[in-house]
Amino acid sequence: MSAIKVLGINGSPRDDSTSARLLLKALESARESGAEIRELRMIETPLPPCDGCVSYYGTCNLEVCIEHGGEVVKEVLEELIASDVLLFATPVYWFGPSGLLKNLIDRMTSLEHGQKILDGRVGGILCSYEEEGASMTISQLFLALSDMGLMFPPYAYTYNRGREIEDDTEFYARQLGRNAVEMARVINGKRWWRKD
Ligand SMILES: Cc1cc2nc3c(=O)[nH]c(=O)nc-3n(C[C@H](O)[C@H](O)[C@H](O)COP(=O)(O)O)c2cc1C
Repeated sequence: MSAIKVLGINGSPRDDSTSARLLLKALESARESGAEIRELRMIETPLPPCDGCVSYYGTCNLEVCIEHGGEVVKEVLEELIASDVLLFATPVYWFGPSGLLKNLIDRMTSLEHGQKILDGRVGGILCSYEEEGASMTISQLFLALSDMGLMFPPYAYTYNRGREIEDDTEFYARQLGRNAVEMARVINGKRWWRKD
C-alpha cells in the first residue's frame, strides 16, 4: 500500500510564523505515523485572486481556472488533488483566514463546482491569533471545506494564542496529524459525492 500523502498549507506570509510552527508539529506527527509530508508555503506561490467565473453563469472549472490563473494555479491545485490529507494553517487576519489562504480557498471553487474533485480528502485546521477571531476563522474554513467534500477526524482543529506554542495546542496539533493519517487509511480512497 502506498504511503498517505499529507500536504500542509501554510497561509502565513511571515518567516518565523507561529501558525507554520504549529503546522510543523502536525506534519511531524503525520510523518511519525508513516505518511509522506509536504509543506506548501503560499507566500512562495501566491495565487492571483479568483476571477469569479462561478457567479450566475457557473462557467467555473479546473481547466478555465488554470487558463485564467496560469502555471502557479495549475501547480498548486494539482498538488492538492494529489494529496490524501490537507492541513490548512493560517494566522487570523481580521476574524478570518489570511488573504494568501483565502485566495486559495476561492480558487478551490474550481475543484468543487460540479465535480467535487477533492471529495473524501481528510482535512484539518490550525490557526494562530493574538486577541480574537480564531473560532470565526476556523468555522469559516470548516464550512467551505466541507462543501468541497473534505472530511474531518475528531479534534480536527487547534488554535494558539500569541507567539509561544502552548503545550495543549501542541498536543492537539500532533493528535491532528496522527488522526488525519489514520482516518485517510480507514477511508481508503472511498468517494462520497453522488448525484442521485
Ligand atoms: C492584517 C492583520 C490582521 C490581523 N487581525 C487579527 C485579528 O482579527 N485577531 C487577532 O487575534 N489577531 C489578528 N492579527 C494578529 C495575527 O493573527 C497574529 O499575530 C498571528 O499569531 C500571526 O501568525 P503567524 O506568526 O503565523 O503569521 C492580525 C495580523 C495582521 C497582520
